[in-house]
Amino acid sequence: MFSILTNTIFASALLILIVSWIAGSKASRLLYGGSAERLSRKTRKQMVWAAYASLPAASLVVATLLMTQSMSPVFWEDRVLLHLPLTVVPLLAIWFLSMPRLWKLWRETRKLTGSPLSADIRRQAAHPLIIVPFQMSALGAVTVFYYLLVTPVPLQLTKAIVPILIWAAAIVALWFVHDRRFQRVSHPEAVIVYQPWRRALRGLGIFFVAAGLSATALVIESQNSRLPDQLNMAEGPMEFGGGPALAHNAPGAISVAMLTGPREGTPDRKFTLTAEKKTITLSSGEQVDAWTYNGQIPGPELRMKQGELVEVTLINRDIEEGATIHWHGLDVPNAEDGVAGATQDAVMPGEQHVYRFIAEQTGTFWYHSHQDSQEAVEKGLFGPLIVEPETPVETSPVEDITVITHVWENAGFSIGANTGVQRKKMTPGTPVRIRLINTQDWVRQKYVLTGTPFQVAAVDGTDLNEPGQLQDTHLELPTGGRADLTFVMPDHPVFLSAGGDQKLGILLSRDGTGEIPDIPKTEVFDLTHYGTPVATQINAQSDFDREFQLILDNKIGFYNGQFNSLYTLNGKVFPDTPMFMVREGDLVKTTIVNLGAVDHPMHLHGHHMLVLSYNGEPVTGSPWYSDTLDVKPGDTYEVGFVADNPGLWMDHCHNLTHAAVGMSMHLMYEGVTTPYTVGSETLNHPE
Ligand code: C2O
Ligand code: CU
Repeated sequence: MFSILTNTIFASALLILIVSWIAGSKASRLLYGGSAERLSRKTRKQMVWAAYASLPAASLVVATLLMTQSMSPVFWEDRVLLHLPLTVVPLLAIWFLSMPRLWKLWRETRKLTGSPLSADIRRQAAHPLIIVPFQMSALGAVTVFYYLLVTPVPLQLTKAIVPILIWAAAIVALWFVHDRRFQRVSHPEAVIVYQPWRRALRGLGIFFVAAGLSATALVIESQNSRLPDQLNMAEGPMEFGGGPALAHNAPGAISVAMLTGPREGTPDRKFTLTAEKKTITLSSGEQVDAWTYNGQIPGPELRMKQGELVEVTLINRDIEEGATIHWHGLDVPNAEDGVAGATQDAVMPGEQHVYRFIAEQTGTFWYHSHQDSQEAVEKGLFGPLIVEPETPVETSPVEDITVITHVWENAGFSIGANTGVQRKKMTPGTPVRIRLINTQDWVRQKYVLTGTPFQVAAVDGTDLNEPGQLQDTHLELPTGGRADLTFVMPDHPVFLSAGGDQKLGILLSRDGTGEIPDIPKTEVFDLTHYGTPVATQINAQSDFDREFQLILDNKIGFYNGQFNSLYTLNGKVFPDTPMFMVREGDLVKTTIVNLGAVDHPMHLHGHHMLVLSYNGEPVTGSPWYSDTLDVKPGDTYEVGFVADNPGLWMDHCHNLTHAAVGMSMHLMYEGVTTPYTVGSETLNHPE
């Protein structure tokens, strides 16, 4: 609904602009009608143009009012306070000031014939009140566009009012221009000649001045958007969420480099991941110039048991851009989090870095490089990470299948390096767990399991409580999201489709052959009412120490000197995005609102967010912990978490192309500093 309304408003504003622009220029030429007959005809047409201009204006007003009926004020307060006056005031002026005059002029010229026009008729035809309202409407639409594209969020009236003041000033200026002409032509001896070249010249003059001014503004904006050569991530603008102010670099502050996992002790598991470039052939025969861990895409599956001490050595063989490993969804100590420029320096070719942590959670995770993450993940520097419970929950052995999906540049959608349907033998009666991991940037991916009822046993590496049986249901995972599906193998084939059709997936059957079943019509899985509730450390009634608001939006503008579509957090892009400050032990609530046009899967490092409510409705099923929360246009989520993992934590959109143009911020603990820096003078480029 939100998207329909915003698109209607956008289209309406565009139509208002076009139609009123034409109507305005026609109105200003009425005077040159020449003969009374022509003037009369043009006047009549002008009234029709007024009606044309009113239609999109009315649709903009209706769409805005509908929004006020169905959504919370954050979605429409700027629209009502700023966009509506820009639309309604000109509309009223057209109907109450221009129309009566046009009507009168038409009635008076209808019966007249011949030329030249009398002074009185000329006066009427040149009256500013039949011209300026149309121009006002056109400029109003331009201003609405400015607001739509360069959004002032969160709404600050003092700043937001400036464009309206400019609009008002432009109207006054137009008024003077038209009034001067009006005075001139009202003179009984005035000679009316239409001088197209003069008009054209003047138009061109105005155009060049406007173009010059905008170009200057753009150059300044572009310069201002340049990122500093070197920047400490702990130096962002702080927000305290209504709690007491905190200092991150107070005396006694601790460096993130100290916040490591256990540095002593023999690891229970040791892995070595070597980052290297390699050309990989997919099952389709397509070749991918990949960046790999251990020469394979995806990287090797790292399996471990809960409570184990894990040691992973990253060696960078030849990725000149550098590499790290971030354990997506695993809440490790800060120094092990693998973010270049925040928790470590990027590992350059020939260098290595050792990560050590205890796997505290169980479930499905993945790892990926967090240096140039957008390009690194796209090219293959990622792999699955599975933490098994210490003692198996199920009595009979479970068939565990990891389905990690990705879209390779120029080579298409795949599960691992497989681009088609894989067939697998599965004895009926076997318990099966399918672990879905979506690594694909940009798209929310669809997965359909056909041929058996199933449960969604876990989401984002957290088990759900008493998950119910599902059928004819599909899942949509945002980039970075995971879900575990469980079922008992029936005596007929089961098909897991990645993407929702029969092209890509896994077919399970008794003998490893069989037909791919038809994909039924399915409903999307809804986690807000699934499973049963159980007590949690925090809940919607908790007494939160800090409450933050995080508004997601988009605008056009510059990022690091480049003109781009920008995705904003509270109206800003990195490094101007807010840094949410917390103290260890705080209960934190964040309200995330998406005012923009596309999904933003928000990923908070080091913590799991408990979803408290979705669009004002409390979550009534199983506790739902998320680390990658897909916030769609028009969505509002309230999430809570306990600040129990000190450090400097990234909080960004996992649509990594968005993060790469500044949709990134961080959660910062009191008394924590970082020795690492980012920027062009450093080697660290986390996004
Ligand atoms: Cu999966 Cu900050 O990343
Ligand atoms: Cu995004």
